[in-house]
Amino acid sequence: MYLTKEEERILDGEFGEGMRKAMELLVAIGDAYDAEKLIPITRAHAASSGQEGDMYFVELLAKGGASCRVPTTTNPVYDMEYFHSIFEISEEEAEVPRRVKKAYKQIDAILSWSCTPYITENIPLYGEHVAFSESSATPYVNSVIGARTNREAAQSALAAGIIGKTPEYGLHFKENRKGTHLVKVEADLKDEFDYTLLGYYVAKQIGYGIPVFTGISKQPSTEQLINLCAMLNTPGAVPMFHIPGFTVEAKTVKDAFQGDVPEDKITVTDDELKRTYEEIRGASGKIDLVMLGCPHYTLKQVEEVARLLRGKKIHRDVSFWVCTSATAKLLAERNGYLSEIERAGGHVVADTCIDEPCWHPYKDKTGATDSPKCAYYRRFKEAVITRLKDCVEAAVKGEWG
Ligand code: F3S
Repeated sequence: MYLTKEEERILDGEFGEGMRKAMELLVAIGDAYDAEKLIPITRAHAASSGQEGDMYFVELLAKGGASCRVPTTTNPVYDMEYFHSIFEISEEEAEVPRRVKKAYKQIDAILSWSCTPYITENIPLYGEHVAFSESSATPYVNSVIGARTNREAAQSALAAGIIGKTPEYGLHFKENRKGTHLVKVEADLKDEFDYTLLGYYVAKQIGYGIPVFTGISKQPSTEQLINLCAMLNTPGAVPMFHIPGFTVEAKTVKDAFQGDVPEDKITVTDDELKRTYEEIRGASGKIDLVMLGCPHYTLKQVEEVARLLRGKKIHRDVSFWVCTSATAKLLAERNGYLSEIERAGGHVVADTCIDEPCWHPYKDKTGATDSPKCAYYRRFKEAVITRLKDCVEAAVKGEWG
């Protein structure tokens, strides 16, 4: 890969060991993908977590004196103070997230600790070249916004944020952004959970690719799109999609395929969604916890939880958790949603992800969630996956089904 004089000096270590490491990673990726050069990016999102592998890399950069050259947001770790007031968390266990947080601060990242920064703190514009990792973030910024990113790993996105550049390959080129699969949606998509089922089903069918959805007649909401994006990357690996006439890069189906024919076609009817739900919903019975907010709930979703819990009490044997961003939590507090949820016996927690060790008290428990991605991480033993309103009802009754 061609490097400018400055890039070569970075690689030679003239700008410090941290930048050298970041550049080394970008050059290795560029070489692997036959990129000709690095291109400037405007922003990045690093999907690392509060676990040891992530800590190793960010500390390596921090110790080497690196700092972010473009705005770079961070994925959830966990709100240590909140958890320490509820569970026993040993000093040893708290060590990793504490060090992760410290290292990200040292490298001047934006400490968003959220997996949906693209709707709050880190919103690209159409056509921006960026480096975004995280299951819902990559397809959202590519498809809905029309920014350009590859499906980055936490480390490659972070390295790109440090250098302010990324190797030019893949989805940075228009020709690689064309659809691969035509997905004819005949199902009636009524709510956010239907988009979860749609994403999950389509990803299982196509694995890797760029689906082009037709037949989605109503304007999808932000929350529906977030769910679709996240689930396309739960059983599959989908960096972007088109909804002709709605997403920004394709007015028509022909635009979406850039004049080519689809590699494959699938049809999704109500039957496919029903079968997908039957497959994932889990067994009826007692539940120990409800886990919502994977991806992080928006303010609108937190308000919906507060509304569903109004005048009700969560069963004494059920723990009830809503994960959201710090921004949404602050606004939920101002608007009174937080106190409504807490009055009913629930917790709203910012900065936190289901895939963190802080949930260990639930490892032998049965949890209900509206997110197959949340269930996938198996921080609890058995999972029930169903609509938000069913999760709330189950929390109140103490059982599901
Ligand atoms: Fe977000 Fe963690 Fe779920 S990063 S999407 S809450 S697994």
